[in-house]
Amino acid sequence: VSVDDEQNRDMGRVHGHARREDVTMLDELPERFRTEFPVTRDRAYLFGGGLAPASRRVSGTIAAWMHTWAFDPLEAWDGLATETDAVRERLGRLLGTSPSTIAIVDGASRASNIAVGLLDARPGSNVVVDATTYPSSLYPWMVPGRDGVEVRRAANGPTGLAAGIGDLERLVDDGTVAVCVTHVHPHTGFRHDLRPIADLAHAHGAVIVADISQSAGVIPIDLAADGIDLAMGTAMKWLMGPPGIGFLCESADLLARTCAPQVGYLGAELDPADRTRLRLRPDARRHELGLPSLLGMPGWRTGLDIVLEAGVPAIHRHVEALVERCLDGLDDLGLVVTTPRERSSRAGLVSIPATSPLELRAFLRERGVDLWGFPRGSLIRADAGMFNDAHDIDRLLDGLAAYIAERGHGAIQET
Ligand SMILES: Cc1ncc(COP(=O)(O)O)c(C=O)c1O
Repeated sequence: VSVDDEQNRDMGRVHGHARREDVTMLDELPERFRTEFPVTRDRAYLFGGGLAPASRRVSGTIAAWMHTWAFDPLEAWDGLATETDAVRERLGRLLGTSPSTIAIVDGASRASNIAVGLLDARPGSNVVVDATTYPSSLYPWMVPGRDGVEVRRAANGPTGLAAGIGDLERLVDDGTVAVCVTHVHPHTGFRHDLRPIADLAHAHGAVIVADISQSAGVIPIDLAADGIDLAMGTAMKWLMGPPGIGFLCESADLLARTCAPQVGYLGAELDPADRTRLRLRPDARRHELGLPSLLGMPGWRTGLDIVLEAGVPAIHRHVEALVERCLDGLDDLGLVVTTPRERSSRAGLVSIPATSPLELRAFLRERGVDLWGFPRGSLIRADAGMFNDAHDIDRLLDGLAAYIAERGHGAIQET
């Protein structure tokens, strides 16, 4: 039992759903962060792990950029380098890494493809994944042309949700190029402990590739301390930016040993001394190709400022308390939850098995509650973000109670 889990139980007692009158105690963040987000006025928006809502400040920055684009496009174009550097600098602070290890790309999926492409995966080598490795970092290993690389899928050990370190250990050997995991899995809400996985990979000369799309911005991340070689993520979730933009982090050590699988005029140039040769930037910018989303960049910079201002530790405490309240309330309703109860094994996502996710989602939406309904996974998912409060969670629980009262418990979960 970790210290995290001890605190978990204490907070559960204080903030448990049974004591709903304590709502203000859940609000670790000043109210101004909630009022930054217009959606909170009318709706319990619990889909921040899909698409974070636009804040006033992000909308304002984007609107200002649109104005500049209309009246002074050259000025808008001139802002590219400054804005991209500003995003890189803020991400570096948030993720515990140097800005020189960060490339800004068009999303986590692109970053994963670049990460897989830059690894020297020869026929006969292998990559180790588990059931929670997201498609964006699994599929790139499976394209024709990489047929010779064996994809080893680790069993779901002790949790039944994801591989434990022992399950990974059984598969990693000296032919392993990478252990490829998703820090927090969008379907289960399960969170891996990254450091032991990094140690395991490194002990065999392999790298760890970690998708941090569902953790960056909501739980403290220190890529350098955790020994992460390659990490990728997306702006539009817990980093409060717009869609269509993301990042790849490649450690300095790896940058010194690798090339770039995709190149463009931003990250490479012809060697002036020998124009038949290509020179790559020495830092992670070598992975940046052409003109990125000029519209998205200042928007994301502003979103990152909000996250930094609130502070990830405070966001984490806030989200933890909301998730705790949600789990207690779901317990009271007799609903089974997939997301682990241990604090150290989850972040901001609560995944609930549901037989008719879209129907349930529509029912809740009518009552002002927005969440993810995923028929293929037979689940609904409620995400607690920095802009949510205890009332949002209670609206969800009340909505679920109304659904059960109207249609019976079995309409959500068969017993
Ligand atoms: C873990 C994870 N990785 C990747 C993605 C996709 O990100 P993008 O659309 O930026 O490629 C998502 C969500 O959509 C996700 O939850």
